[in-house]
Amino acid sequence: MIRVALIPGDGVGPEVVREAERVMDACVSAGLADIRTELFPHGADHYLATGETLSDESFARLRDDFDAILLGAVGDSRVPDGRHARDILLGLRFRLDLYINFRPARLRLAELSPLRSADDRPIDFVIFRENTEGLDTGAGRIESAGGPDERAVSEAIATRAGVQRIVRSAFAYASSEGRGRVTLGDKANAVPHVYGLWRRVFTEVAADYPDLDADMQYVDALAMQLVRAPDRFEVIVTSNLLGDILSDLAAELVGGMGLAPSANVNPGRHALYEPVHGSAPDIVGTGAANPMAAILSTALLFRDGGADAAADRVEAAVDAALAAGIRTPDIAGSHTTEQVGAWIADHIGTG
Ligand code: NAD
Ligand code: IPM
Ligand code: MN
Repeated sequence: MIRVALIPGDGVGPEVVREAERVMDACVSAGLADIRTELFPHGADHYLATGETLSDESFARLRDDFDAILLGAVGDSRVPDGRHARDILLGLRFRLDLYINFRPARLRLAELSPLRSADDRPIDFVIFRENTEGLDTGAGRIESAGGPDERAVSEAIATRAGVQRIVRSAFAYASSEGRGRVTLGDKANAVPHVYGLWRRVFTEVAADYPDLDADMQYVDALAMQLVRAPDRFEVIVTSNLLGDILSDLAAELVGGMGLAPSANVNPGRHALYEPVHGSAPDIVGTGAANPMAAILSTALLFRDGGADAAADRVEAAVDAALAAGIRTPDIAGSHTTEQVGAWIADHIGTG
């Protein structure tokens, strides 16, 4: 039994989580998995109505009573400073110490890529984004606010232990999954303290994996190479903010934000699954949101939860929908969010 907390959140979050739930239910009906779900209301509506972003009580339950969290998206223009989104999403990542943000980029169908070269060069790599440190912790200050001498300082934090655990995870994954190369994305030439540490730790960990090709690239050149020759990459490990940027780029190479799943994990302890995309306010309520990223996130959830048969069936059903042209407009289709979700759920039942 996998106990799953659902946090649909804002914008298209509830629209895509509804379809992910439909697909999970189909897996249960087909006898492929045993799950129990519970809905959590946290998001902009809840914050505006109650003043509560993520209550201590909800946090304790999410920490203690569930094996996994499935989140849609958080972000709403009625909360311009995004405080609820930071408390909920970054709050869960930091407080549950979900130090691995695992973001696979696999081209499921050549025609989905904007790259001409995709026909004969498969794209299949994963990003290990550090998820608890970096520039994203909110550490910093504003000095002389509003005055001519105003200074804003955001502190990038990297600890040896924090860098070690994500770099080790990336190498261990490459080794166990038969991947030949691990690439570090960094910026040690311009940001020497933090990325100097990343390079030293990466080199130390690489020495424990002599069979793997260990490659260090400045992130600007890496971004260029990702577009030029994405088939050269297998596992990319990088810091929080750089991983955020690279993962949207990676998503676009394989069909866009509507297809990119992710897992935030502290192995053996806690996990939160979510599409890489946000609340997509420009398409909310139109039926145009692609639910596949959320649905593929449930495949990651099932796999980590030991329900491999369910994970395989979900991925196969998404591939079948793509091949059959059951697609939303972002990937040249004319189906709605619900039609795509229902088709995939049906396919699981009959597959
Ligand atoms: P976004 O990912 O929401 O949207 C970027 C573009 O991708 C938009 O054109 C959108 O329509 C499209 N898109 C996204 N998801 C899609 C889907 N499932 N199907 C089809 N098209 C899709 O990024 P943004 O516009 O920068 O951010 C909007 C809000 O979401 C902001 O408040 C931001 O902070 C938040 N956000 C939240 C998360 C999260 O909860 N994990 C992630 C990113 C952004
Ligand atoms: C993501 C998002 C978040 C991040 C935002 C919403 C804080 O962009 O999950 O990629 O920066 O991690
Ligand atoms: Mn992002």
